Amino acid sequence: MLDIRDFLKINHISLSRFINYCLYKKDQGFYQKNSIGTHFITSPEVSQLFGECIAIFFLLILKKYKISSFCELGPGNGTLMKDLIIILKKFIKDSMSFYLYEKSIFLKNLQMNNLSNFNTTSCEINFLDRPKFKKEPIFFFCNEFFDALPINQFEKVNNSWFEKRVTYSKRYKIINVKTFEKFNKNYKNGDIIETSPLSQLYLIKILKHIKQYGGGFLIFDYGPFSKSNINTLQALHNSKKCDILDFPFQSDITYHVNFKDLTSIANKLGLISYGPITQKDFLFFHGINERVLNIISQTSSTEKVESLNKQFERLTSPSGMGGLIKCIYISREKIDSKVFKL
Ligand SMILES: C[S@@+](CC[C@H](N)C(=O)[O-])C[C@H]1O[C@@H](n2cnc3c(N)ncnc32)[C@H](O)[C@@H]1O
Repeated sequence: MLDIRDFLKINHISLSRFINYCLYKKDQGFYQKNSIGTHFITSPEVSQLFGECIAIFFLLILKKYKISSFCELGPGNGTLMKDLIIILKKFIKDSMSFYLYEKSIFLKNLQMNNLSNFNTTSCEINFLDRPKFKKEPIFFFCNEFFDALPINQFEKVNNSWFEKRVTYSKRYKIINVKTFEKFNKNYKNGDIIETSPLSQLYLIKILKHIKQYGGGFLIFDYGPFSKSNINTLQALHNSKKCDILDFPFQSDITYHVNFKDLTSIANKLGLISYGPITQKDFLFFHGINERVLNIISQTSSTEKVESLNKQFERLTSPSGMGGLIKCIYISREKIDSKVFKL
């Protein structure tokens, strides 16, 4: 079979195709062989406190609306889903359904292992092969899903637009190729636009489902309140930032999500968007502080207290995950949550 490097010696491909290849190539892609936590850590892997606060958020909405289905996109190791189910089962006695939509076969198997003990007749766990959802209200949620989807980049140079594409000559290289894509005239020379066709596809599919059947979509991702026109693409290899071409197949590739794009798509479809707010604000409002104090009051182990304090710090620190990760919620119905400012 032709090696991609041979193909790229005489061709070039879009960044999104290259990223998709690096992350999901059968048996070799980064997500086809690495569990979450090996090269980078995510909030659910830092602490169960994250999933517990999300459960409280949904429980507050459930006081007013009856929804019994939950669907996670890009569930990684399955940890967030597990933490959520544990709390929801304590408060909800009716039967519930949980859906997981995952692209990586390796991670899907991990999720099946981690969640198999929770699957009962009143707590149904389903693994979806395609993003096709039951015709009923569903709470969709995801953590670091959109920032893991492939993107394309376009740069304005000397008043012309170029697409960044990947080629190979002794090593992978990114080159500018003239494009006929049209962008707003207000952009300056040097501006870089990042687009994610796959993000739009997923988002619109889910939002149309919410518009028709109800429910909502809770999204956590890395990104600023207002995104500038710069290159935000980066890779992580052994917890260190690197260029995406440094360790293809051995590094996670991410970019900064443009929350304004997500909320404006929601608003165009006639849905209500809440946020963005920081992860710290979300977690504080949903009781992370009280929960930590409560667990501490029940333990005599100094190691456990220390570890809990570290987890709390990591999830909420304004210069780390607490401030860099933002959260939005999109729904058809109004919610009373005071933490989101409309
Ligand atoms: C950065 S990881 C986050 C994992 C998990 N949510 C967490 O917080 O630990 C991104 C996740 O999205 C999944 N993913 C990426 N692209 C996907 C796609 N097109 N469809 C479904 N899942 C996808 C990855 O395989 C992985 O599980």
